[in-house]
Amino acid sequence: MEIYSKDQINSLVINHNFIIVDRAVAHLHFLQEDFSDKRVYFVDRPEFSKNLENFEKICDFFLDHNISRFDTLLVIGGGATSDLAGFVASTILRGIKWKVVPTTLLSMVDAAIGGKVGVNSRLGKNLIGNFHLPQKVYIATEFLSTLDEYQIDSGKGEILKYAFLDEKIKALIYEKVSFEKLIKACADYKNKIVKDDFKEEGKRVILNFGHTFGHAIEKITSFSHGISVVMGIKLCLTLFTPSKLKMFDELTKLLEIKVPSYQNISLDEILSYMSKDKKNKNSKIAFIVNRKLVYYSLAEVKKLIRENCYDDIN
Ligand SMILES: NC(=O)c1ccc[n+]([C@@H]2O[C@H](COP(=O)([O-])OP(=O)(O)OC[C@H]3O[C@@H](n4cnc5c(N)ncnc54)[C@H](O)[C@@H]3O)[C@@H](O)[C@H]2O)c1
Repeated sequence: MEIYSKDQINSLVINHNFIIVDRAVAHLHFLQEDFSDKRVYFVDRPEFSKNLENFEKICDFFLDHNISRFDTLLVIGGGATSDLAGFVASTILRGIKWKVVPTTLLSMVDAAIGGKVGVNSRLGKNLIGNFHLPQKVYIATEFLSTLDEYQIDSGKGEILKYAFLDEKIKALIYEKVSFEKLIKACADYKNKIVKDDFKEEGKRVILNFGHTFGHAIEKITSFSHGISVVMGIKLCLTLFTPSKLKMFDELTKLLEIKVPSYQNISLDEILSYMSKDKKNKNSKIAFIVNRKLVYYSLAEVKKLIRENCYDDIN
């Protein structure tokens, strides 16, 4: 994975007529003139816009401006923007090409890579979607300069996930390599997994490590996606592989991630949300344990939580 400069991204903008950009990113990193003569849809509050209502609005906007099957959509923003915009690209005129410039750490190492696109439904996150690979992902780390600490921590949450899946990434964290090197290693790792299993029919599922609890925590609290994943990873390790908690502590310290407490999160709400997870089978809940997909019944999970996290969870 190559790292691009902001100038190269500016040239990309010049060469595209149809653009979807996170409005905050447009304000912080571009001039108004950069988008003149372009058909640009600005996304406000991306996670709240990632729904069917906005999907329809965006399709109407571009159809109104005569987008054709030969056009390529340029998408600039974090993971919520690229999920929503990629879903538009996958469906408008039965699918057009798209390119993506991820602007958050989380989207550089994860969300922009691999072609999973979609929107949230009232019943849960990412329940409506598609697989549609971008032509290219342009990582420009200059965008990271305007992210606050909380958003950086959120991206580090997905980096932590990779450290539990890939020995090389774990070693790089212990070696304290530069952030840029770590971003490239994570993006390369995800690309490799996706190349082997694009539609998540096999090994791609391991990328969901920590996400069964993580998605539930994200839905019922106001924690960001990546921070919810960190908490999900900790819960997963506590329940199924407590011997790895030492590594969790070491890695979160090295990555300087602040791990919130589980206090005040309702166990019943977590369990009720998890019982609707997309990966569940025969009413059993899917988890990634030791890089493998395993299933546990609700009663088994409840018992494990009561035995192992009694002090932490209500
Ligand atoms: N498709 C996938 O494979 C995949 C994988 C992981 C996560 N996701 C999705 O990604 C989303 C989370 O991504 P995210 O954390 O990037 O969230 P996001 O896109 O909501 O961005 C987070 C916040 O940062 C702002 N922002 C973006 N770039 C900025 C910059 N350079 N400077 C300052 N502010 C900036 C945004 O306006 C937003 O307020 C979730 O919806 C999650 O479901 C998708």
